[in-house]
Amino acid sequence: MIVLGIETSCDETAAAVIEENNVLSSIISSQEVHAQFGGVVPELASRAHIRLIVPIVERALKQADKSLHEIDGFAVTYGPGLVGALLVGLNFVKGMVTATGKPFVGVNHIEGHIYGNILSQPKIEFPIIFLIVSGGHTQLVLMEDHLKYRIIGKTRDDAVGEAFDKGAKLLGLGYPGGPMIDKLAQKGDPDFVKFPRAMLKNAPFDFSYSGLKTSLLVYLKNISEEEKQKHLNDICASYQKAAVEVLIKKTLLAARKYKAKRIALAGGVAANSLLRSWLQKVCEQEGLELYLPELKYCTDNAAMIARVGLEYLKHGITSPLTLNAYPALKLKEAGK
Ligand SMILES: Nc1ncnc2c1ncn2[C@@H]1O[C@H](COP(=O)(O)OP(=O)(O)OP(=O)(O)O)[C@@H](O)[C@H]1O
Ligand SMILES: [Mg+2]
Repeated sequence: MIVLGIETSCDETAAAVIEENNVLSSIISSQEVHAQFGGVVPELASRAHIRLIVPIVERALKQADKSLHEIDGFAVTYGPGLVGALLVGLNFVKGMVTATGKPFVGVNHIEGHIYGNILSQPKIEFPIIFLIVSGGHTQLVLMEDHLKYRIIGKTRDDAVGEAFDKGAKLLGLGYPGGPMIDKLAQKGDPDFVKFPRAMLKNAPFDFSYSGLKTSLLVYLKNISEEEKQKHLNDICASYQKAAVEVLIKKTLLAARKYKAKRIALAGGVAANSLLRSWLQKVCEQEGLELYLPELKYCTDNAAMIARVGLEYLKHGITSPLTLNAYPALKLKEAGK
Protein backbone atom coordinates (compact mmCIF):
# COMPACT_ATOMS: atom_id res chain seq x y z
CA MET A 1 0.00 0.00 0.00
CA ILE A 2 1.30 3.50 -0.93
CA VAL A 3 0.29 6.34 1.41
CA LEU A 4 0.80 10.08 1.05
CA GLY A 5 0.99 11.83 4.43
CA ILE A 6 0.65 15.52 5.21
CA GLU A 7 1.60 17.40 8.37
CA THR A 8 0.77 21.09 8.94
CA SER A 9 -0.11 21.26 12.65
CA CYS A 10 2.42 23.92 13.63
CA ASP A 11 5.30 25.57 11.76
CA GLU A 12 6.48 22.69 9.56
CA THR A 13 4.88 22.10 6.17
CA ALA A 14 5.63 18.46 5.44
CA ALA A 15 4.63 15.77 2.93
CA ALA A 16 5.86 12.19 2.60
CA VAL A 17 5.18 9.10 0.51
CA ILE A 18 5.64 5.67 2.05
CA GLU A 19 5.18 2.21 0.62
CA GLU A 20 4.55 -0.19 3.49
CA ASN A 21 7.45 0.49 5.91
CA ASN A 22 9.65 2.16 3.32
CA VAL A 23 9.87 5.93 3.22
CA LEU A 24 10.05 6.87 -0.47
CA SER A 25 10.21 10.61 0.25
CA SER A 26 9.94 12.92 3.24
CA ILE A 27 9.97 16.65 2.52
CA ILE A 28 9.90 19.20 5.34
CA SER A 29 9.90 22.97 5.12
CA SER A 30 10.44 24.68 8.47
CA GLN A 31 9.01 28.17 8.47
CA GLU A 32 11.77 30.61 9.34
CA VAL A 33 9.44 33.62 9.65
CA HIS A 34 8.77 32.83 13.35
CA ALA A 35 12.37 33.00 14.62
CA GLN A 36 12.31 36.81 14.88
CA PHE A 37 9.32 36.56 17.27
CA GLY A 38 10.81 33.88 19.56
CA GLY A 39 7.85 31.54 18.98
CA VAL A 40 5.25 30.50 16.41
CA VAL A 41 2.79 33.20 15.24
CA PRO A 42 -0.38 31.24 14.28
CA GLU A 43 -1.63 33.48 11.47
CA LEU A 44 1.80 33.64 9.84
CA ALA A 45 2.01 29.83 10.06
CA SER A 46 -1.34 29.37 8.24
CA ARG A 47 -0.32 31.75 5.48
CA ALA A 48 3.05 30.06 5.02
CA HIS A 49 1.36 26.62 4.83
CA ILE A 50 -0.94 27.89 2.06
CA ARG A 51 2.10 29.09 0.09
CA LEU A 52 4.12 25.92 0.66
CA ILE A 53 1.66 23.03 0.51
CA VAL A 54 1.51 22.64 -3.31
CA PRO A 55 5.29 22.71 -3.98
CA ILE A 56 6.00 20.44 -0.98
CA VAL A 57 3.46 17.79 -2.06
CA GLU A 58 4.74 18.00 -5.64
CA ARG A 59 8.31 17.46 -4.43
CA ALA A 60 7.28 14.51 -2.25
CA LEU A 61 5.56 12.81 -5.20
CA LYS A 62 8.45 13.56 -7.55
CA GLN A 63 11.11 12.27 -5.17
CA ALA A 64 9.05 9.10 -4.58
CA ASP A 65 8.67 8.74 -8.35
CA LYS A 66 4.88 8.36 -7.99
CA SER A 67 1.96 10.15 -9.59
CA LEU A 68 -1.04 11.27 -7.53
CA HIS A 69 -3.13 8.46 -9.02
CA GLU A 70 -0.67 5.80 -7.82
CA ILE A 71 -1.40 6.76 -4.19
CA ASP A 72 -3.67 4.20 -2.47
CA GLY A 73 -4.69 6.43 0.46
CA PHE A 74 -3.97 9.69 2.26
CA ALA A 75 -3.20 10.54 5.89
CA VAL A 76 -3.32 14.00 7.41
CA THR A 77 -2.87 15.50 10.88
CA TYR A 78 -6.23 16.86 12.13
CA GLY A 79 -5.10 17.74 15.69
CA PRO A 80 -3.73 18.75 18.10
CA GLY A 81 -2.24 21.96 16.75
CA LEU A 82 -3.06 25.43 15.45
CA VAL A 83 -6.52 25.40 13.91
CA GLY A 84 -5.68 27.56 10.88
CA ALA A 85 -2.54 25.54 10.18
CA LEU A 86 -4.34 22.18 10.52
CA LEU A 87 -7.13 23.31 8.18
CA VAL A 88 -4.65 23.95 5.35
CA GLY A 89 -3.40 20.34 5.34
CA LEU A 90 -6.81 18.83 5.99
CA ASN A 91 -8.55 20.71 3.20
CA PHE A 92 -5.72 20.06 0.78
CA VAL A 93 -6.05 16.32 1.43
CA LYS A 94 -9.82 16.51 0.97
CA GLY A 95 -9.15 18.05 -2.44
CA MET A 96 -6.85 15.18 -3.41
CA VAL A 97 -9.39 12.64 -2.09
CA THR A 98 -12.12 14.23 -4.22
CA ALA A 99 -9.88 14.25 -7.28
CA THR A 100 -8.68 10.64 -6.96
CA GLY A 101 -11.58 8.86 -5.26
CA LYS A 102 -9.08 7.26 -2.81
CA PRO A 103 -9.70 7.03 0.97
CA PHE A 104 -8.10 9.17 3.67
CA VAL A 105 -7.72 9.07 7.42
CA GLY A 106 -7.24 11.89 9.95
CA VAL A 107 -4.27 11.28 12.26
CA ASN A 108 -3.54 12.51 15.78
CA HIS A 109 -0.16 14.31 15.71
CA ILE A 110 0.99 12.60 18.93
CA GLU A 111 0.14 9.20 17.50
CA GLY A 112 2.29 10.38 14.59
CA HIS A 113 5.26 10.93 16.92
CA ILE A 114 4.80 7.39 18.28
CA TYR A 115 4.93 5.98 14.75
CA GLY A 116 7.92 8.20 13.96
CA ASN A 117 9.72 5.75 16.21
CA ILE A 118 8.02 2.57 14.95
CA LEU A 119 8.74 3.65 11.36
CA SER A 120 12.39 2.69 11.57
CA GLN A 121 12.22 -0.41 13.79
CA PRO A 122 12.88 -3.60 11.84
CA LYS A 123 10.84 -5.56 14.40
CA ILE A 124 8.53 -4.35 17.13
CA GLU A 125 7.08 -6.17 20.13
CA PHE A 126 4.53 -5.06 22.72
CA PRO A 127 3.87 -3.99 25.44
CA ILE A 128 6.04 -0.87 25.29
CA ILE A 129 6.34 2.10 27.63
CA PHE A 130 6.45 5.11 25.30
CA LEU A 131 7.95 8.35 26.59
CA ILE A 132 6.56 11.12 24.38
CA VAL A 133 8.53 14.33 24.75
CA SER A 134 7.81 17.20 22.38
CA GLY A 135 7.26 20.94 22.22
CA GLY A 136 3.71 20.66 23.56
CA HIS A 137 3.52 17.22 25.21
CA THR A 138 5.18 15.13 27.90
CA GLN A 139 3.40 11.81 28.30
CA LEU A 140 4.04 8.25 29.41
CA VAL A 141 1.94 5.86 27.35
CA LEU A 142 1.56 2.12 27.73
CA MET A 143 1.19 0.71 24.21
CA GLU A 144 -0.18 -2.83 24.26
CA ASP A 145 -0.56 -3.34 20.52
CA HIS A 146 -0.63 -1.31 17.29
CA LEU A 147 -3.00 1.67 17.72
CA LYS A 148 -3.77 0.73 21.36
CA TYR A 149 -2.72 3.30 23.95
CA ARG A 150 -3.18 3.89 27.65
CA ILE A 151 -1.98 7.21 29.03
CA ILE A 152 -0.37 6.58 32.40
CA GLY A 153 1.15 9.99 33.05
CA LYS A 154 1.36 13.49 31.64
CA THR A 155 2.59 16.96 32.43
CA ARG A 156 0.56 19.15 34.74
CA ASP A 157 1.92 22.39 33.26
CA ASP A 158 4.75 22.96 30.77
CA ALA A 159 5.96 20.25 28.39
CA VAL A 160 9.64 19.35 28.59
CA GLY A 161 10.26 20.81 25.11
CA GLU A 162 8.66 24.02 26.33
CA ALA A 163 11.01 23.97 29.35
CA PHE A 164 13.96 23.72 26.94
CA ASP A 165 12.59 26.51 24.73
CA LYS A 166 11.70 28.86 27.60
CA GLY A 167 14.99 28.14 29.37
CA ALA A 168 16.89 28.91 26.16
CA LYS A 169 14.97 32.17 25.79
CA LEU A 170 15.95 33.21 29.34
CA LEU A 171 19.56 32.40 28.45
CA GLY A 172 19.33 34.44 25.23
CA LEU A 173 19.88 31.41 22.99
CA GLY A 174 17.09 31.86 20.41
CA TYR A 175 14.22 29.60 19.28
CA PRO A 176 13.79 26.62 19.28
CA GLY A 177 16.13 26.32 22.21
CA GLY A 178 16.36 22.56 22.77
CA PRO A 179 19.09 21.83 20.19
CA MET A 180 21.15 24.84 21.39
CA ILE A 181 21.00 23.83 25.08
CA ASP A 182 21.92 20.28 24.06
CA LYS A 183 24.95 21.55 22.12
CA LEU A 184 26.29 23.90 24.80
CA ALA A 185 25.60 21.38 27.58
CA GLN A 186 28.10 18.97 26.02
CA LYS A 187 30.93 21.29 27.10
CA GLY A 188 29.53 22.08 30.56
CA ASP A 189 29.46 20.69 34.11
CA PRO A 190 26.00 19.16 34.77
CA ASP A 191 26.45 19.51 38.53
CA PHE A 192 27.38 23.20 38.49
CA VAL A 193 23.88 24.38 39.56
CA LYS A 194 21.48 22.17 41.51
CA PHE A 195 18.15 22.84 39.77
CA PRO A 196 15.02 21.19 41.27
CA ARG A 197 13.58 17.86 40.09
CA ALA A 198 9.78 17.71 40.44
CA MET A 199 9.22 14.04 41.30
CA LEU A 200 5.53 14.48 42.43
CA LYS A 201 5.57 11.58 44.91
CA ASN A 202 1.76 11.29 44.94
CA ALA A 203 1.56 11.14 41.14
CA PRO A 204 4.68 9.16 40.20
CA PHE A 205 4.01 9.19 36.44
CA ASP A 206 3.00 12.85 36.09
CA PHE A 207 5.43 15.66 35.28
CA SER A 208 5.75 19.33 36.16
CA TYR A 209 8.23 21.59 34.38
CA SER A 210 7.11 25.11 35.25
CA GLY A 211 9.18 25.15 38.47
CA LEU A 212 12.40 24.31 36.62
CA LYS A 213 11.97 27.30 34.32
CA THR A 214 11.22 29.58 37.30
CA SER A 215 14.26 28.33 39.20
CA LEU A 216 16.43 29.24 36.19
CA LEU A 217 14.85 32.69 36.11
CA VAL A 218 15.58 33.21 39.82
CA TYR A 219 19.13 31.85 39.43
CA LEU A 220 19.87 34.22 36.54
CA LYS A 221 18.53 37.21 38.49
CA ASN A 222 21.11 36.57 41.18
CA ILE A 223 24.20 36.41 38.98
CA SER A 224 25.87 39.04 36.80
CA GLU A 225 25.76 39.01 32.98
CA GLU A 226 29.50 38.36 33.03
CA GLU A 227 29.10 35.30 35.25
CA LYS A 228 26.25 34.04 33.08
CA GLN A 229 28.39 34.24 29.94
CA LYS A 230 31.39 32.65 31.69
CA HIS A 231 29.33 29.68 32.88
CA LEU A 232 26.78 29.42 30.04
CA ASN A 233 27.80 25.85 29.18
CA ASP A 234 27.65 24.79 32.85
CA ILE A 235 24.20 26.36 33.33
CA CYS A 236 22.90 24.63 30.17
CA ALA A 237 24.34 21.28 31.29
CA SER A 238 22.80 21.61 34.78
CA TYR A 239 19.41 22.67 33.40
CA GLN A 240 19.39 19.81 30.88
CA LYS A 241 20.39 17.25 33.52
CA ALA A 242 17.52 18.36 35.80
CA ALA A 243 15.00 18.11 32.93
CA VAL A 244 16.23 14.72 31.73
CA GLU A 245 16.75 13.02 35.10
CA VAL A 246 13.02 13.24 35.90
CA LEU A 247 12.15 11.68 32.53
CA ILE A 248 14.56 8.78 33.06
CA LYS A 249 13.42 7.98 36.61
CA LYS A 250 9.70 8.08 35.84
CA THR A 251 10.05 6.04 32.65
CA LEU A 252 11.97 3.31 34.46
CA LEU A 253 9.43 3.28 37.26
CA ALA A 254 6.61 2.90 34.72
CA ALA A 255 8.38 -0.01 32.98
CA ARG A 256 8.71 -1.77 36.35
CA LYS A 257 5.12 -1.09 37.44
CA TYR A 258 3.57 -2.21 34.13
CA LYS A 259 6.05 -5.07 33.64
CA ALA A 260 7.03 -3.80 30.20
CA LYS A 261 10.35 -5.09 28.89
CA ARG A 262 10.62 -2.37 26.28
CA ILE A 263 10.94 1.41 26.37
CA ALA A 264 10.53 3.73 23.39
CA LEU A 265 11.16 7.45 22.89
CA ALA A 266 9.21 9.81 20.64
CA GLY A 267 8.88 13.53 19.84
CA GLY A 268 11.30 16.40 19.26
CA VAL A 269 13.08 16.10 22.62
CA ALA A 270 13.86 12.45 21.75
CA ALA A 271 16.70 14.02 19.72
CA ASN A 272 18.35 15.15 22.97
CA SER A 273 21.77 13.52 23.28
CA LEU A 274 21.76 13.18 27.09
CA LEU A 275 18.27 11.65 27.13
CA ARG A 276 19.27 9.09 24.49
CA SER A 277 22.60 8.11 26.04
CA TRP A 278 21.31 8.02 29.63
CA LEU A 279 18.31 5.91 28.67
CA GLN A 280 20.55 3.59 26.69
CA LYS A 281 22.77 3.11 29.76
CA VAL A 282 19.94 2.40 32.22
CA CYS A 283 18.15 0.07 29.79
CA GLU A 284 21.33 -1.98 29.46
CA GLN A 285 21.67 -2.11 33.25
CA GLU A 286 18.03 -3.15 33.73
CA GLY A 287 17.91 -5.60 30.81
CA LEU A 288 15.27 -3.59 28.95
CA GLU A 289 15.00 -3.24 25.19
CA LEU A 290 15.14 0.35 23.93
CA TYR A 291 13.55 1.61 20.71
CA LEU A 292 15.16 4.91 19.71
CA PRO A 293 13.73 6.94 16.82
CA GLU A 294 16.01 8.12 14.02
CA LEU A 295 16.90 11.79 14.52
CA LYS A 296 15.14 12.83 11.30
CA TYR A 297 11.82 11.39 12.58
CA CYS A 298 11.93 12.99 16.07
CA THR A 299 10.72 16.49 15.19
CA ASP A 300 7.67 17.12 13.01
CA ASN A 301 7.61 15.27 9.68
CA ALA A 302 4.99 13.69 7.45
CA ALA A 303 6.49 10.19 7.16
CA MET A 304 5.29 9.50 10.72
CA ILE A 305 1.78 10.66 9.78
CA ALA A 306 1.76 8.48 6.66
CA ARG A 307 2.90 5.49 8.78
CA VAL A 308 -0.04 5.87 11.20
CA GLY A 309 -2.34 6.31 8.20
CA LEU A 310 -1.05 3.06 6.69
CA GLU A 311 -1.91 1.21 9.91
CA TYR A 312 -5.48 2.62 9.99
CA LEU A 313 -6.15 2.20 6.28
CA LYS A 314 -4.99 -1.44 6.46
CA HIS A 315 -7.54 -1.98 9.23
CA GLY A 316 -10.20 -0.47 6.93
CA ILE A 317 -10.52 2.65 9.11
CA THR A 318 -11.09 5.84 7.11
CA SER A 319 -12.41 9.35 7.83
CA PRO A 320 -15.38 11.13 6.23
CA LEU A 321 -14.99 14.29 4.13
CA THR A 322 -16.80 16.13 6.93
CA LEU A 323 -13.83 15.60 9.31
CA ASN A 324 -12.94 18.86 11.08
CA ALA A 325 -9.69 20.08 12.66
CA TYR A 326 -9.42 19.66 16.46
CA PRO A 327 -6.81 21.96 18.06
CA ALA A 328 -7.01 20.18 21.45
CA LEU A 329 -7.38 16.61 20.16
CA LYS A 330 -6.41 13.97 22.76
CA LEU A 331 -4.82 10.60 22.10
CA LYS A 332 -7.66 8.07 21.89
CA GLU A 333 -7.25 5.47 24.60
CA ALA A 334 -8.11 1.80 24.11
CA GLY A 335 -11.60 0.96 25.36
CA LYS A 336 -12.64 4.60 25.83
N1 LIG B 1 18.40 18.04 20.89
C1 LIG B 1 17.33 18.50 21.53
N2 LIG B 1 17.32 18.61 22.88
C2 LIG B 1 16.24 19.06 23.54
N3 LIG B 1 15.12 19.46 22.94
C3 LIG B 1 15.07 19.39 21.60
C4 LIG B 1 16.15 18.89 20.83
N4 LIG B 1 15.79 18.94 19.51
C5 LIG B 1 14.54 19.44 19.47
N5 LIG B 1 14.10 19.71 20.72
C6 LIG B 1 12.82 20.30 21.13
O1 LIG B 1 11.77 19.59 20.51
C7 LIG B 1 10.64 20.46 20.37
C8 LIG B 1 10.06 20.34 18.99
O2 LIG B 1 9.57 19.03 18.89
P1 LIG B 1 8.25 18.69 18.10
O3 LIG B 1 8.44 19.10 16.70
O4 LIG B 1 7.95 17.29 18.36
O5 LIG B 1 7.24 19.62 18.90
P2 LIG B 1 5.91 20.31 18.41
O6 LIG B 1 5.43 19.64 17.19
O7 LIG B 1 6.15 21.77 18.42
O8 LIG B 1 4.95 19.96 19.64
P3 LIG B 1 3.85 18.79 19.71
O9 LIG B 1 4.39 17.65 18.94
O10 LIG B 1 3.71 18.53 21.16
O11 LIG B 1 2.63 19.38 19.09
C9 LIG B 1 11.12 21.87 20.69
O12 LIG B 1 10.67 22.19 21.99
C10 LIG B 1 12.64 21.73 20.66
O13 LIG B 1 13.32 22.64 21.49
MG1 LIG C 1 5.31 17.63 17.06
